[in-house]
Amino acid sequence: MAQFRILLLAAILMFSGVVVDAYGPGDNGYVGLRDDYYGTSCKDVETVIKKAVQAELAKNLKHAAGVLRMHFHDCFVEGCDASVLLDGPGTEKTAHVNEKLAGYEVIDAAKAAVEEVCPGVVSCADILAYAARDSTVELNGTAWAVQGGRKDGTVSLASRAEAELPPPEFQVSQLIDSFARRGLSAKQMVVLSGSHTVGVGHCDKFVSRLYNFNSTFFTDPSIDPAYATELKNICPQHTFNTTIEVFMDVITPTSAGVFEANYYKTLQEHKGLFTSDQSLFDDTRTKATVTSLLNNERFQKEFGKAMRAMGRVGVKTKGQIRTNCRVVNTY
Ligand code: HEM
Ligand SMILES: *[C@@H]1O[C@H](CO)[C@@H](O)[C@H](O)[C@H]1NC(C)=O
Ligand SMILES: *[C@@H]1O[C@H](CO)[C@@H](O)[C@H](O)[C@H]1NC(C)=O
Ligand SMILES: *[C@@H]1O[C@H](CO)[C@@H](O)[C@H](O)[C@H]1NC(C)=O
Repeated sequence: MAQFRILLLAAILMFSGVVVDAYGPGDNGYVGLRDDYYGTSCKDVETVIKKAVQAELAKNLKHAAGVLRMHFHDCFVEGCDASVLLDGPGTEKTAHVNEKLAGYEVIDAAKAAVEEVCPGVVSCADILAYAARDSTVELNGTAWAVQGGRKDGTVSLASRAEAELPPPEFQVSQLIDSFARRGLSAKQMVVLSGSHTVGVGHCDKFVSRLYNFNSTFFTDPSIDPAYATELKNICPQHTFNTTIEVFMDVITPTSAGVFEANYYKTLQEHKGLFTSDQSLFDDTRTKATVTSLLNNERFQKEFGKAMRAMGRVGVKTKGQIRTNCRVVNTY
């Protein structure tokens, strides 16, 4: 009976989402999320978080991309519930897929600053959502309004992270499926992939495209030949070094990245780093969206909307407000 109720509720929510908002389920707080959620309970929270994030990123701006990715990796596993932040054996952050995830100290600093002004009020899941927005802005992305009201979860399993996060080998069908299971559209998937305009990847994530690709092509023919040669130089076939960082956006390859629409231009030039990137331009289902997002103003606007939708995935209305984002409350 309880299970049936949950299914029924999910069906109603998904249906109302289609009606209310062409950009995916409910931009109107159906999961209990609201803009200015802490307006009365902790009115300065967004300023406090922003200042803490800025101070941390001033020490290491590369963590801006890390925090943005962290919010994605949180939302796709157990929903946006800060499960990715929990320390301990076998938690999500110990998964291979999260091996290079960086910037946990940014969230620690933001949480510490928030606890100073409003102890026990603001969830870690919300702090991560605000911090992902603030990090994007530090890379010159356009700000969006972040909804608040998420509760923190108590379950965090590496095996779930491995199973739920889409790998870089995914093609468009698999990417569409993965996002659809979270109520996100193909269009939103393409928009959110634009995050790869900042940050880095590592050789092991794309060498299969460079060598012994398949029985017809030694190298993935969807890679621009000059770019493929460049990547082979950085990642030699048998001796590549998984510590070397490769900028995902070859048009503005600065150490931390600049948040703009250049990612889509790299796809047009066949310089997408992963199969999951390049296939977005090479597949008829997503190509038109890629082309439309070459317009930076449109990209920035759509990105904010899509991040709001991603921030609603699997949100918990019951749960904890953790005291320490790395540890489940025991009281
Ligand atoms: C569409 C499916 C996606 C796939 C298959 C994917 C895959 C990857 C991979 C393989 C890396 C590099 C990891 C490494 O080599 O260490 C990466 C980096 C990154 N991803 Fe994604 N990603 C996807 C979607 C997203 C989304 C939705 C976001 C955010 C909203 C995002 C944000 C980032 C960022 C910012 C980085 C750079 C991290 C850094 O430099 O520290 N990705 N992604
Ligand atoms: C953002 O823009 C400002 C002003 O145009 C510039 O000084 C700064 O270097 C840019 N930041 C990044 C990360 O590109
Ligand atoms: C090899 O890859 C190409 C390009 O993706 C594809 O068209 C072709 O069908 C593949 N061949 C085999 C034998 O898998
Ligand atoms: C791998 O690359 C890193 C970073 O460039 C470097 O510090 C390290 O020495 C390299 N390791 C090997 C085995 O070459």
